[in-house]
This record gives sequence, C-alpha cells and structure tokens, in this order.
Amino acid sequence: MTFFAFNTVSRIVHSWGAIQVLPDEIRRLNKDTAKVLIVSDPGIEKVGILDKAAKILAGAGMQSRAFSKVQSDPAFDSAEASIAFAKEFGPDLVIGIGGGSSLDIAKLTAAMLKNTGPIDRYVGMELIENPGIPLILMPTTAGTGSEVTSICVLSDTKNQVKKGIVSRNLYARTVLLDPELTVGLPPHITAMTGMDALVHATESYVGIHATQFTDALNLEAIRIIGANLRNAYRNGNDQVARTNMLYASCMAGMAFSNTQNGLDHAMALAIGGRFHLPHGLLTAFLLPWVMGFNMVANPEKFAKIAVALGENTAGIDVTNAAGASVKAVQSLLDDLKISTKLSSYDVPKSVFPDLAKSTVGAVRLISNNPRPVTEADVIKLLEENY
Ligand SMILES: [Fe+2]
Repeated sequence: MTFFAFNTVSRIVHSWGAIQVLPDEIRRLNKDTAKVLIVSDPGIEKVGILDKAAKILAGAGMQSRAFSKVQSDPAFDSAEASIAFAKEFGPDLVIGIGGGSSLDIAKLTAAMLKNTGPIDRYVGMELIENPGIPLILMPTTAGTGSEVTSICVLSDTKNQVKKGIVSRNLYARTVLLDPELTVGLPPHITAMTGMDALVHATESYVGIHATQFTDALNLEAIRIIGANLRNAYRNGNDQVARTNMLYASCMAGMAFSNTQNGLDHAMALAIGGRFHLPHGLLTAFLLPWVMGFNMVANPEKFAKIAVALGENTAGIDVTNAAGASVKAVQSLLDDLKISTKLSSYDVPKSVFPDLAKSTVGAVRLISNNPRPVTEADVIKLLEENY
C-alpha cells in the first residue's frame, strides 16, 4: 500500500497591510525575541520595505539588522555570506522578505544556525538534521511560492547547474502574505513571476505525484491566475488582482512543494544554469511547449486546465479540449508580451545536447513528469520551438 502525506507551513497570515502584525507574529513564536535578522535583496531595500519593517520592529522594542545582499539566482557563496552575517549577529529569529531568491536564502540561513556546514553537504533530499531558528517569510512577488516550499535553489557557478536543498527543516514557521508589498513590481516582473506561479500549478496538477489535496489547490490557483494576471500586469495598483495573484501563487507553492514540478522546470534549470535568464521568463516561455508534449499523458486533466483558464470546451472531444489549454496559455503569453521562440533569447543550437543531458538528469523534477522524457525528446522540443 502506498501512503501519501501533505505538508505545508502551519500558519499563513494574509491581508492587505499584514506587515503591521509582524511583532505579534514574532512573539507568538518566541515571546522573548530581542534580535531579528532580515534577509533580503538590494531592490527591496531601495523601495523602502526594509526600513518599514525595521521601524515596525523597533516600535515593538526589537533590534533588527538586515542582510540585503541576496542576488537573483543566488550562488553558494551568497548563501555563505548570509549565514556568516547571521552567525556574527546572533539573531533569535530570521525574517525573509523578497522574491524567491531572498526567501530561499532566509530559509537556509535560519536552518544553518542550528546545523553545521559546509552547505553543499545538504544538497539533495532531507539531509538537514536539525530544525533551524524560527523563520517568518514575506513574499514581495506573486510567483515563486517559495514562502511555502521546503526547497532552497542555489547556482553551482563552477558546473553551470542549479542545485536544490530540499528539507522539511526549511519550512517557515509563519508566512505573512501582504499583497501591498507587491504593488511596486513593474509589469514585466509581474508577468514573469505570475507565469511562474501558473507553471507551478500546471506542472503539479498534471504530475504523477498529484493527489486530491494538491489538485484542489492547483486547479483553483490556475483559475485565479487566468482571471487576474492580465489585470495585475496592466494595472499594478489593482488591489483585487494583486491580492488574488499573491494568494494563488502561495496555493500553487503549497501544492508543488508536495509533488515537485516537471519537465518545464527541468528545462528551465538547465537553460538558467548556463544563460542568466530570469527563472520566471524561462518557465513562462517553455510552458506551451511542455504542455503540448505532456498533453497525451493525461488529456482529461489538460481539458480541466482549459476550463479553469476560461475556455469554452462544451461539445468538443477531450483531445481538442486538452489542446484548448495550450492555446489559452499561448494567448496569455501574447498578452503579456512574452515570446515563446527560443531564438529570442540568444541560446545557440550548439548547446542543445548539453541542455538535454542536464534536463533529463534533473531526476527530482523529471520523475514527477506525466510523460517519460528522453534527451532526444528535449532536443526535438528545443528545435521545434527555436
Ligand atoms: Fe518556478
């Protein structure tokens, strides 16, 4: 008999302006908290969100320091710098504020205050022995779902690949979803990150580890993203669209943390390891290719995706209804001005065999893909969509 489990963060506080309850949430975890480390990035510092957080903490009598040097696609040395900063400061609690990169580094920093290095020994599944110090995560993009996942992705710059540290000891103790923090995101970032959330929900929904629990989250996330991403892209101040996108991205994160992703993310990590394109852009333009490839493995589920994205599939057979899901995604990408042609992104054909090899080598992701994938399949996809 096969047993399944569903894990997620135990407390998610969500509302416009939720940052104001940060001190209450900190005390709920440890009433004696005196020193708080904030892990973030230069962009978040620049727009004043770190100052706002520091003032709220100071008003509650807590000392805070910020490590705001996390780069996008963080490498191992970026994680080591954050951990060294944390060890010197000695916080009682860590807060991660930012996109997926900052939240991933915050997770690992909190964990490594109770585990011994070097961090590369933790690459893989469930190798972190001890729970870290209390961790609160606050996403500022609606996309990665990193706030509710148990993974930290790091770039191995020497071998030009991305590596994942997956452990239940990386889960946050509390997540604060404050959609107001996402208002300042420019349209192209809103588009890429929002599409990444749609990819998570889609890959998790059709993946072979999907369950009734993840299906419910994913299908609703797909529906919400289909109904709100265009509005958030066109008008960043749209409170309803921003709120819905942040909640949907979190729901997709809750699901894929339990199933893993699939071929789209395997290809995105392979291409992203060599060419520094944003993660959300990669997963976005790969989505219609990968859906077209995977559709045959589960047309019923792809037909349900089409309906969730607002397509009218009444009276058409399941194969065509499944095909409508790919058309709906292509139309969304067109509206978001994201090209789905690989030649738009300066990826030379000479690297296709290497990309295919690393894609198929991403076992954690490929083992959840609904259709088996060979290196020849990946090369064919790259060539067909060049
Ligand atoms: Fe992603």
